[in-house]
Amino acid sequence: MKRILVINGPNINLLGIREPEIYGKESYADLLAFICNSARSAGVEVRCFQSNSEGAIVDEIQNAIGQFNGIIINPAAYTHTSIAIPDALKATGIPAVEVHLSDISNREEYRKISYTAEACCATIAGKGFEGYSEAIEVLSSISH
Ligand code: DQA
Repeated sequence: MKRILVINGPNINLLGIREPEIYGKESYADLLAFICNSARSAGVEVRCFQSNSEGAIVDEIQNAIGQFNGIIINPAAYTHTSIAIPDALKATGIPAVEVHLSDISNREEYRKISYTAEACCATIAGKGFEGYSEAIEVLSSISH
C-alpha cells in the first residue's frame, strides 16, 4: 500500500477560528477526518503532521526518505518565504504535491510567489479541503 505524508504548516491548526471567511469554518480536526476518509477511499495510508516551525517541517520531510511514496504539503505562509522547504523536498526525491485551501493566485501580491511550487509536480489551490483529496489522487497515480 502506498504511504503518503501530509504536512501542514503554520496556523493550519487554527482552521475554523482563523479568518473563516477565507479558510472556512471547519477545524483542523475536521481536515484530518476528511484526509483520512479520502485516503481510505483511495486505498492509501496517510500520516498527517502539522507544525508552526520551519525547521520541524524540514526535519519531517527529511525523515520521509525511505518511508513514504508521496508528500502532500501546505506550507502555509512558508510557501512564500522558505527556500529550506523546497530544498528538502528536492533532496528526498519523493513526488510532492502542493496544496492551498485558498486561491493564492487571487489574493495579496506576496502570496502569488510560491518557492515550494518548483519542488512539486502539481499545485492545487482554492479548492478548500477537496484539494487534499485531489492531491491524494495525483500521488496515487504516480509510481515511486
Ligand atoms: C495557505 C495560503 C497562504 O498564503 C497562507 O499564509 C496560509 C494558508 C492556504 O492554505 O490557503 O497560511 O497556504
